[in-house]
Amino acid sequence: MKKIQYNEHAKEVLQILQKGAFLTTHADGKTNTMTIGWGYLGYAWGKPVFGVMVRHNRYTHQLLEKNGQFTVTLPKEELSKELAFCGTKSGLETDKIKACGFSLLPAQTIEVPLIACRAIQYECKVVCRTEMQSPLVDGAVKDSWYEKMPDDYHTFYFGEITACYLTE
Ligand SMILES: Cc1cc2nc3c(=O)[nH]c(=O)nc-3n(C[C@H](O)[C@H](O)[C@H](O)COP(=O)(O)O)c2cc1C
Repeated sequence: MKKIQYNEHAKEVLQILQKGAFLTTHADGKTNTMTIGWGYLGYAWGKPVFGVMVRHNRYTHQLLEKNGQFTVTLPKEELSKELAFCGTKSGLETDKIKACGFSLLPAQTIEVPLIACRAIQYECKVVCRTEMQSPLVDGAVKDSWYEKMPDDYHTFYFGEITACYLTE
């Protein structure tokens, strides 16, 4: 494991994110991971921040509401099958971590573990969450992303980055 500055690999983080990353959560003794393709690496409230967007119908949403901590694993190895699986199956019905054969790494600063692989890893504590509000959303965005599920907006979770490092 090699510690890094939160923004040291920013370009690569955003490139990997477009292919998919693992957002892992943990509450009530259950650990779950889901694929994310959207996110933000930035600086706010005097802190380095990773922002993720999670729709209300995700099991991940339930877990994040119970425990406002999450990890983001941005894989630097070929895990496209696992990303597709974790991006289409819900942890409500499937133990995705077991099904993918993932090992978990304990985090250094939070309770939520990380997916063990060659990756850029972030540990985050939610410092702010906010709901999308229909009147504030651009019409074209609504048509493209929310037309089929008008009540299923994303919650934005902004997590203070409490640790970040590379794993092999
Ligand atoms: C490439 C990709 C990116 C995705 N990005 C997001 C995202 O940013 N936010 C989100 O809510 N769902 C996203 N999804 C969908 C969730 O990963 C999917 O609904 C998953 O089954 C939810 O799992 P859960 O119910 O265990 O939380 C994405 C799926 C894929 C395949």
